[in-house]
Amino acid sequence: ADTLGASAAQSGRYFGTAIEPGYFGEQPYVNTLNQEFNSVVAENNMKWETTEPAQGQFDFSGGDQVVGHAESQGMQVRGHTLVWHSQLAPWAQQLTGDALNQAMVDHINGVAGHYQGQIASWDVVNEAFDEDGTRRDDSHFQQQLGDGYIEQAFRTADAADPNAQLCYNDFNTDGINAKSNGVYDMVADFKARGVPIDCVGFQTHLSTDTDLSTYQQNLQRFADLGVDVHVTELDVGGSGTAQADAYRTVTESCLAVERCKGITVWGITDAYSWRAEETPLLFDANYQKKEAYGAVLEAL
Ligand code: XIL
Repeated sequence: ADTLGASAAQSGRYFGTAIEPGYFGEQPYVNTLNQEFNSVVAENNMKWETTEPAQGQFDFSGGDQVVGHAESQGMQVRGHTLVWHSQLAPWAQQLTGDALNQAMVDHINGVAGHYQGQIASWDVVNEAFDEDGTRRDDSHFQQQLGDGYIEQAFRTADAADPNAQLCYNDFNTDGINAKSNGVYDMVADFKARGVPIDCVGFQTHLSTDTDLSTYQQNLQRFADLGVDVHVTELDVGGSGTAQADAYRTVTESCLAVERCKGITVWGITDAYSWRAEETPLLFDANYQKKEAYGAVLEAL
C-alpha cells in the first residue's frame, strides 16, 4: 500500500495523528490527513481545561469536530485524556480531598459519557509517574488523593464507556528503565486484582540520540502482562537519516509485537508541531514527505 494508514491496515493496525480542528480550513492539512491517516486524536481539545472549563459546564465543540471528521472519513479515534495533572482546569486545581475526588469522577462520567461508543481507546490517566518510577509528586491528584486515584479513574471510565479500551499513557517509558518499571508494576497489580485496564500508551517523544535498544523488549513485556500496547505520541527531534532510523526502529518494533495495535504521530506537519524548531514529524512545513516518511512506509 502507498499510504501510512493503508499500509498499517495490512497487518490489522492503525496509523494515526494528533490533530487540531483549527487547521481544518487549510486544504493541504486536510488533504494530508485524509490521504495518509486512519486514526486521529485531539492534540488538545479533549483535555480537562478545554472540556470542563468551569465545574459542571462542559464544552465539547472542539472534540466533536475531531470525532465528526473522523467519522466522515472512517477513521478511528483515540481519546486523550481524562485525568492529567497538566492542562487541568484552574478550578479543579483549587479543590481538595473528597471534592476533588468527586470532581474527577464527574469529569470522567461527563467526557467519557459524551463520547461513549465513539472512542476506540482512552488515555484514562496520563503521566502519573516520575522518572524514578514512583508516583509523580507534583500531581495535584497524587497530592490530594494518593495512589488510589488511578484505579478509581479506570473503574469510573469502564462504567462510563464499557466498549472503549482503557489505557495508561506516559513518556520516557520507551525503554526498560526505572520509570517504565514503575508503570509495569502498577499494570501487573491492576491485572492481578481485576482493575479494568486494557492497554498502555508509550508516548515516544524522542530525539535522534535516544537509546532504543530495549524499545521492542519493553513493549513486549507489557504485552505479556495481558494488555495491548500503543505508540501514542511519536515524534523524533532531528533530521535526515538519523531521524528516519529512529522512526524505522519504532515502527519495526510495533510490528514485531503482536499486541501493538498501532502508531500515532504527534502532528502532521513540522509547521504546527509542539516541537516545531526540532522538525520532528513525517511531513515538512510544506507538507513534503521527509526521509522519515519513507522509512516508516517501508517498515509498515
Ligand atoms: C502538548 C500539545 O502538543 C501542545 O499543543 C500543548 O500546548 C501542550 O501539550 N504529552 C502529552 C500531550 O500527553 O498531551 C502533550 O501535548 C505533549 C506531551
